[in-house]
Amino acid sequence: MRIVLLTGPGGDAQGWGDMKVTESVRQAAEALGHPTRIAYVADEAEFFRLVDKPDFDIVWSALYHLTPNEAFIGRNAAGTWVADELDRRKVPYVGSDSRTMKAMIDKFQTHEILAAAGVAVPSHVLLHSSDGASAVTYPAFVKPICESRSVGISDESVVHDEGELRRRIAYIEREFDQPALVEEFLPGDEYTALVLGNGKTRECLPGLVTVEDKHYRNYRILRSDLRGVGLTRISLAGARAEECRKLADDAAEAMGCLDHIRIDMRVDRAGKLRIIEVNGIPGLKPHKSWAPQIFTLYHGSPLGEEEDYLRLIEAIVNAAGKRYGLP
Ligand SMILES: Nc1ncnc2c1ncn2[C@@H]1O[C@H](COP(=O)(O)OP(=O)(O)OP(=O)(O)O)[C@@H](O)[C@H]1O
Ligand SMILES: [Mg+2]
Repeated sequence: MRIVLLTGPGGDAQGWGDMKVTESVRQAAEALGHPTRIAYVADEAEFFRLVDKPDFDIVWSALYHLTPNEAFIGRNAAGTWVADELDRRKVPYVGSDSRTMKAMIDKFQTHEILAAAGVAVPSHVLLHSSDGASAVTYPAFVKPICESRSVGISDESVVHDEGELRRRIAYIEREFDQPALVEEFLPGDEYTALVLGNGKTRECLPGLVTVEDKHYRNYRILRSDLRGVGLTRISLAGARAEECRKLADDAAEAMGCLDHIRIDMRVDRAGKLRIIEVNGIPGLKPHKSWAPQIFTLYHGSPLGEEEDYLRLIEAIVNAAGKRYGLP
């Protein structure tokens, strides 16, 4: 199948990574026999030109929505959402449908959907600076509702009283132009699960995420300065593997996810795993992002990591192609 890899100014903040990562995905898809090109769309006009007259079979997008913003995702509720426009034109695409994409990028909405389905999430509340905060118990964890790569996350995300909480909400509104998601602080270990494929063939591969203790300051949280610099390690989930796998599977089912996602979790005070987010467009930096690392942990080939990366891309593309009957 002829693939277009769609990216733009927001491709790194929103999607699988920068242009170098996009080129790695392209080369892998080509090596698998799919004619694949990159479409970098700087704005709406370029995007519409691309999708109004498709000369490809399927789109794989690093963008949820179109934005000139390179630094962070932003809310962009009234903007142009890629999956909406592709649905409107009946153009096939890799990944979850528009409704699920929008739910995954909004961590509050994700929590609400999962909680309604009985899937464990932290207790949480959405707060603007003008809202009352009587529902919050401390310590609490405060973050933007729709960012990734730990943007807006530091030790100051952990708050202990209403004063600290209000300062942090004000910071999030000011820097990221969005309300704050306030969650119970989850003090335990962190896990992530790579989820590939659909229906009966869906596979959930759990991993434990660690950083050497010397890199933490006050809290064992993945601050923004610890991300993307080679400090996080993924290993097998050990005694938590089955709990983690089942939680990821239940969450993927409740959200209606397709093809390829990654689900982050942490252990609460009582020792129970809870989902902190479902990533709709996981990072795909060869050998470095968590998805390729987990894939190698479970499906490592004697031929090495390059071969593993090809097989990961193959699993994603095949899952999507199968849904549309594309070879
Ligand atoms: N409720 C919580 N309690 C403790 N730590 C948390 C909590 N929520 C998030 N964290 C920490 O903050 C980090 C970033 O949070 P989260 O995964 O929600 O955001 P993200 O920036 O979207 O990540 P990604 O790049 O994976 O999309 C987590 O990896 C975890 O270490
Ligand atoms: Mg995360």
